[in-house]
Amino acid sequence: MDEATRTRVELLSALCRQEGEWVSSATLAERLGRSRTAISNHVAELRSLGYEIESATARGYRLCGLPDLVHPVELWRHLGSDSFISEIHFFDETDSTSTQASRMAEAGAPHGTLVIAERQSAGRGRLGRSWSSPAGVGLYFSLILRPRIEPHRTPQLTLLAAVALARTIESRCGRAPQIKWPNDLLFEGRKFAGILTEMAGDVERVRWVNLGIGINVHTVKLPDELAEIATSLKLTLGEAPPRAVLLRAFFSGFAELLEEFEAGSFEHIRSEWERFTAMRDQRVRVSAPGGEKVEGIARGLDTDGALLLEVASGEVRRIIAGDVNLARDDE
Ligand code: BTN
Repeated sequence: MDEATRTRVELLSALCRQEGEWVSSATLAERLGRSRTAISNHVAELRSLGYEIESATARGYRLCGLPDLVHPVELWRHLGSDSFISEIHFFDETDSTSTQASRMAEAGAPHGTLVIAERQSAGRGRLGRSWSSPAGVGLYFSLILRPRIEPHRTPQLTLLAAVALARTIESRCGRAPQIKWPNDLLFEGRKFAGILTEMAGDVERVRWVNLGIGINVHTVKLPDELAEIATSLKLTLGEAPPRAVLLRAFFSGFAELLEEFEAGSFEHIRSEWERFTAMRDQRVRVSAPGGEKVEGIARGLDTDGALLLEVASGEVRRIIAGDVNLARDDE
């Protein structure tokens, strides 16, 4: 965190502790070890970001409203300095945080680097799809990890992220979402979040993994082509927490599961994934990346995270990539 951000986070925290009350400029200056002019300049910066801070001669400043931001000031205010997030790179607009994160990871960005954007002009989804990323209503971020795991466990890491996300939604929004293999999050069969995992390494070592996560949070108008298949937290639940609140909950849950996972255990994550799964024992159709389609009954996750599909002959196949949908009788 740079010095200016740290001061703004401290200033906001001081005003938040007494939200709605006046705090004198002299008190703030003393608490933060800055001049009154510096305080006034930082207040101006915070206002330009959207924080509602009133000022009055002889009374000082008071905080009247907090915006829903994913700006580093707001994120650090929520995360605190003991978060496993090591750096935050914020873009008001970028092509894709996944593209930026891969570039940064190649250039040596540390474990726990967060790349986040208010909007993406070329958001990417799995299997070459795009991800609609309008400003102000969604979360679009990529997390750079340098996990101490063998490369074949990387797909499990994606499932771990899906579980952490599902638990975050369950605890912060009061309703459990469903996970569609491998890592789509749904409410009532409509997708509101997805995960795109990219990695670099060799057969022996993972150099970096970046988890790109997109969540439709406050979206009320979806693009026409998505209207039937997608949703948002707001559309399904009527309301949704501020985006920074969701992120804080996600990162703390994710960090806990990651520690467990790096110590070698996947069983707990697998059983949590099963708890949220949308398709256990349902007839599904799998479209493999090469175009091949296979139908069968989804029998849950193998110990390594592959989907177990029981086909007509009774044989159980392991699916490691592709798209899975409920099979319909008319298909
Ligand atoms: C999917 O379900 O297909 C995965 C969607 C992943 C979207 C996120 S948004 C943040 C990050 N940047 C991208 O370009 N994609 C991921």
